[in-house]
Amino acid sequence: MKVLLIGSGGREHALAWKLAQSPLMTEFYTAPGNPGIAEHATLVSLDVEDQEAVAAFCAEKAIEFVVVGPEAPLVAGLADRLRTDGLKVFGPSAAAAQLEGSKGFTKDICARYNIPTGAYQRFNNAPKAKAYIRAQGAPIVVKADGLAAGKGVTVAMTVEEALAAVDDCFEGAFGSAGAEVVIEAYLDGEEASFFCLCDGTNALPLVTAQDHKRVGEGDTGVNTGGMGAYSPAPVMTTEMIERTMQEIIEPTIRGMAESGHPFSGVFFAGLMITAKGPELIEYNVRFGDPECQVLMMRLKSDLLPLLLAAAEGTLDQVTAEWSDDPALTVVMASKGYPGSYEKNTPIRSLPEAGEGAKVFHAGTSLKDGQLVATGGRVLNVTATGRTVSEAQSRAYALLDKVEWENGFYRRDIGWRAIEREKA
Ligand code: AMP
Ligand code: GLY
Repeated sequence: MKVLLIGSGGREHALAWKLAQSPLMTEFYTAPGNPGIAEHATLVSLDVEDQEAVAAFCAEKAIEFVVVGPEAPLVAGLADRLRTDGLKVFGPSAAAAQLEGSKGFTKDICARYNIPTGAYQRFNNAPKAKAYIRAQGAPIVVKADGLAAGKGVTVAMTVEEALAAVDDCFEGAFGSAGAEVVIEAYLDGEEASFFCLCDGTNALPLVTAQDHKRVGEGDTGVNTGGMGAYSPAPVMTTEMIERTMQEIIEPTIRGMAESGHPFSGVFFAGLMITAKGPELIEYNVRFGDPECQVLMMRLKSDLLPLLLAAAEGTLDQVTAEWSDDPALTVVMASKGYPGSYEKNTPIRSLPEAGEGAKVFHAGTSLKDGQLVATGGRVLNVTATGRTVSEAQSRAYALLDKVEWENGFYRRDIGWRAIEREKA
């Protein structure tokens, strides 16, 4: 099968690494990719925002299946455009991608289908939003409605902080994403990520993971795209997984189908496990980054037929096998991330990762033969082990061998699971 993968992050390196192992693969391209992905696929320098250019490339190479990694091209309708040419695509239509593209859209589905989530209201002007905040009190959560690269959410511990966040949104801090604001109740509990493939009708639950969103050790500092992850998340017991499927995923699938926009692709449900059980914080319509890296380390099955089944409507005919061993990934980022950081700093040496370990590339590039860091999140050092503690030790042993002066990372990835293991 001739396959094109869209994207260039650590998530796409993990997908490329797994896809390239498929016996079904005959030709494999990635646009735009990165130097790590180049070990598994032919890189194509396409502008993925240019849907006509992507379609023309697919026609020229007789591509049969396109896997879309990130959310932005999905929300922009790339899957719809490619499907009009008869291509098979892994990833939802623009209409179904609203589950990630509009927080208000998702909250309305939750309300209509009785899906557990924080109570909320949507606002398109600051005075009404502020009045609601004053009436509700703190803690309270203020969210820009649209895509804001993970930065549009303020978990406000005081009313003043929440009011300031409302001003930020309506004064344009998040561009058009902040033209509408969702204000929702603060949920108290432990967060977990749940992944589930969907083909419009059928669901295939995958596994769970836990991200570390804050930049600093002990979960302190500002939110980032994710500083490390591990899988599985112990808080997601069999009972919690079953309840998530019944109370959250299945009604969403029904709701999307009934609204005329059936969802195909991957549901990435951000959950808060509260005293009442699983509650939905948000949906993403693509794999998590860096959660995907740990999922791919644990997946024993061929990934290609699974993604293809989601695109073709045959998920009821496939199963996925997983290793019981946990996997853990540590993100190495440029000093300064998630704020501003220096670009093109040299990465002088990467360690040889043996069996059960892998260094995935995210924001890297090659300049005159030298590997350099071009992004905020740059490397994902990933390892498996019999326990999370063992996976963590192996990952940090590898990290110590990375020679990149401008890089930093958290030293405590996996701490919740490791505390449980010690207890
Ligand atoms: P989101 O972009 O919606 O995932 O939000 C970013 C982060 O904000 C989440 O991972 C949570 O840590 C936090 N968050 C979002 N909504 C809530 C909520 N209702 N209650 C508590 N924390 C939240
Ligand atoms: N790691 C969180 C995300 O991919 O949105």
